[in-house]
Order: sequence, then C-alpha cells, then structure tokens
Amino acid sequence: MITVGKILKESIETLRSANLKGAQLDARLIVAHGLKMTSQQVFGYPEKQVNERELQCVRKLIFRRSQFEPLALITGKKEFWSLPFKVTSETLIPRPDSETLIEAVLINHPDRKWPARILDLGTGSGCLLLALLHEYQNATGVGTDISKDALKIAKFNCENLGMGSRVDFIHMDWNNVMPSMEQFDIVICNPPYIAEKDRNRISCDVVGFEPNIALFAGEDGLREYKAILSLLAETKNLTYSVFFEVGFNQANDVSKLLKNAGLRNISIYPDLSGIGRCVAAKM
Ligand SMILES: C[S@@+](CC[C@H](N)C(=O)[O-])C[C@H]1O[C@@H](n2cnc3c(N)ncnc32)[C@H](O)[C@@H]1O
Repeated sequence: MITVGKILKESIETLRSANLKGAQLDARLIVAHGLKMTSQQVFGYPEKQVNERELQCVRKLIFRRSQFEPLALITGKKEFWSLPFKVTSETLIPRPDSETLIEAVLINHPDRKWPARILDLGTGSGCLLLALLHEYQNATGVGTDISKDALKIAKFNCENLGMGSRVDFIHMDWNNVMPSMEQFDIVICNPPYIAEKDRNRISCDVVGFEPNIALFAGEDGLREYKAILSLLAETKNLTYSVFFEVGFNQANDVSKLLKNAGLRNISIYPDLSGIGRCVAAKM
C-alpha cells in the first residue's frame, strides 16, 4: 500500500514535469481534496496508508491539473472575500482583483446597517453580491445572469451562506432588458471585458476551462459596458450608484462611457498592483 507522503511526492513530480508554477502547493491541495483530509493533515500524517481507490482518485485529479485545468475547478471551490464559493465550469472563478469592487462600495457607502438594495448584473457564482450582503447585513439583492447554469451555482452559494431569503436570482440578457431600476440603490457589474484581439494572450487554463461568455466582449472588450450603459442611460431621473469592474487599461475608456451615459462623480479604484480595476459613478 502507498502512503500519503509517497502520493504527495509523486503528485508534485507529475505537476513539475507538466511545468506548472506552484506545483508543490497545488499537489498538496489536490491530494488533501482527493483524500478528504486538510492540507495540514497531508503534511502531518505522511505515513498514513492510502487504499487503491483513493490512490486512483488522486491520480485522476492530478492528471486534470497537469492538463492545466484550474485548481478551483478540480476542488470545486474558491474563497472570495474570505467566504467559501462553489464553482464549476459554468461560472467564472472569483478573482482576488474583484475584491477592489467590494472595497470601492464600502468606501462610498460606509454605513454597514444600510438596508441597501443591490443589483448584480452577470452574477456568475454570486461572489460580488453575496460578499456585499455579508457586509451589509440589512441589505437585499437581485443577481442576474444570461447563464441558467451559473444562476444555479449562485443560488447554491446564496443558500450555503444563509442568505436565501435576501436574494432573488433572475435569468436575463442585458442586451434586451434591465430590471426596473427604481428598485435599486447600488448596481454592481463585472462584465466580460477581454478584447477578441487579445484571445491568444490569455493563458490556456482560462480560455480552455472558464466559460467564454464570461470572458470575451467584442473587438475592443467594451461591448458589454456599452450594451448595459445604453439601457442605464434611459434611467436619468433615478438615483443610484454604479460600480463596474474593468480590465487592464480600460478604466479611462469606461469612465468616458459612463460620462456619456449621464453618470457623474466618476472615480477609479486601483487593485493591489496599482491598476485601475473598478470605476464608480452616480446616476
Ligand atoms: C466576468 S463574469 C463575472 C461573474 C461574477 N460576477 C464575478 O465577478 O466573478 C461575467 C458574467 O456575466 C454573464 N453575462 C455575459 N453576458 C451577459 C448578458 N448579455 N446578460 C447577462 N449576463 C451576461 C456571464 O454569464 C458571467 O457570469
């Protein structure tokens, strides 16, 4: 029988020969997931025996990672804003950079008791909306997405975090329709924003495994901002705040689009690398 220590060593070697960065950490997390242990236990019990079924299960998971499948899809989970989220191949994997949007909302609206009504356009796993509802305990929200499969995962995450009574999820294409905006105080959106011309520069673990409908947005990457803002521009008589996540080098272009749509108080918030990552404004 093989031991935990040996299976970990074998897994690290397999991932290293696939030229994966972070092979050691990934191997440890995958072995832990496959053996239903914590990653500390993997280190703490190297002599523990592993049966044939467990060994084959870990080898299959390690093989998937060696083919560049993202770790989060292999383990089916990803932490965002220190909260646990289920993820599948139907949802974008929550990114640490998206926490910039959460921080921007908190800076603009510091009263955590505010019973805000929040609309999340393109909710994916629900990570942005649910992180905000975690901070604003009296707030309620609506999450929308064009993907029915993503909405199922967002609903699961919502129930799992105990927020089922505070959120409605709606299947909706923002090219055709918006929920009636008078219901909302805050609109958040992390739309697809990668330009088609940059497709070849995106790493294969992203393009090959995450839903393309969550990633690409026409020739210049701005198509979805334009679609959403053309509908928001029709609501100039209402008052609400808008927070968009933006891609590398898009903050100024998106700011201009917001200005043209009639929004004001436009400000840009950088991520931890200093790149403008969120554009906020008021209608
Ligand atoms: C970049 S992902 C963001 C997901 C999640 N909010 C996050 O930050 O991780 C964009 C999301 O928008 C959705 N989407 C793309 N086009 C859409 C459309 N026309 N109408 C509604 N949702 C759309 C995708 O299915 C995807 O879930």
